[in-house]
Amino acid sequence: MADLKTTYMGYELKNPIIAGASSLTSNVSGVKKAAESGAGAVVISSLFEEQIQAESFLLEEGMHQYDNLNAEMTTLFPDVDHGGPEKHLILVKEAKKAVDVPVFASLNAVTREAWITYASLLEDTGVDGLELNFYSTPLSFSERGESIEKELIETLKAVKKTVSIPISVKLSPFYTNPFNLIKQIDDVGVNGYVLFNRFFQPDIDIDKETNVLQHNLSTWNDAKLPLRYAGMLYNKIQGDVCSSSGILSGRDAVKMVLAGASCVQVVSTLFRNKVSYISEMVKEIETWMDGKGYKSIRDFRGHLSEENNPDPWVYKRAQYVRLLLKPDWISREG
Ligand SMILES: Cc1cc2nc3c(=O)[nH]c(=O)nc-3n(C[C@H](O)[C@H](O)[C@H](O)COP(=O)(O)O)c2cc1C
Repeated sequence: MADLKTTYMGYELKNPIIAGASSLTSNVSGVKKAAESGAGAVVISSLFEEQIQAESFLLEEGMHQYDNLNAEMTTLFPDVDHGGPEKHLILVKEAKKAVDVPVFASLNAVTREAWITYASLLEDTGVDGLELNFYSTPLSFSERGESIEKELIETLKAVKKTVSIPISVKLSPFYTNPFNLIKQIDDVGVNGYVLFNRFFQPDIDIDKETNVLQHNLSTWNDAKLPLRYAGMLYNKIQGDVCSSSGILSGRDAVKMVLAGASCVQVVSTLFRNKVSYISEMVKEIETWMDGKGYKSIRDFRGHLSEENNPDPWVYKRAQYVRLLLKPDWISREG
């Protein structure tokens, strides 16, 4: 039978399916459920700056600086239990003790001080690694991309100096040149990349003329960008790539590994199909590997990366031009 073991952030995972950060992993029973369903690892929902500041800046004045973040957090992740940081640290500690697969904590801070303090406190819980969730939506017309990236790198260096557990970064694709940023991060040294985070965007109800806020769960189309990056980054950086966004089935996970990812994180598919669906996904990978005669993940990982692809142009612009010039290639299934 196929061996699904893979490595991520220095750990051996029994399979490449990781339950990503969400309200499904914001309590101990959710983390246990993911592990019991066969997840190779679990990421606990993020500790957000808003939770931290709510504790230390109870005065109205102090909160203004975080208005944007506060509104974004509480509306975008309404199901996440926004308890204080103390409560979150206890959750991480208990979740780590409750399961025997690697457990990663996730942090989304804003101030340098909060990044450092809470990275350290999260490490103290005994968790196996730290996912730095660089979720931010710049709103200022004057802030330069360069300064946002510089701040990210300086934060990363400061966190790295503070903790000794493995670190991953979860990025959005909205940087001018993600490859350049990833290279800068790789030079600092991280153990993993979660590519990519997915931003929640507001919708509009035209009959009521109001904004609509709902969980817009992902579809396979959302996975095509992560697929491309997995393919292009294979063998080019030190950290492991963990693909994320739009991975809905075990067969989708296989595509990411063929492109070069070490593992995948899933959330939307677990909302749609329940957390227990992880076991189906694992079975699907196993069935595919058995059908192909692959004994281990190593046997096929990166086979369709940019480096190993029989078509060297597949991830590049030339492919795009080819498609534009041959519209009959357009797939009706999307
Ligand atoms: C309800 C909900 C809560 C989420 N909470 C977090 C979170 O706390 N931290 C985080 O980094 N991402 C969070 N995410 C984003 C997911 O971890 C993931 O990056 C995104 O949903 C894309 O993966 P998917 O296509 O498998 O859903 C959340 C997503 C959802 C739907």
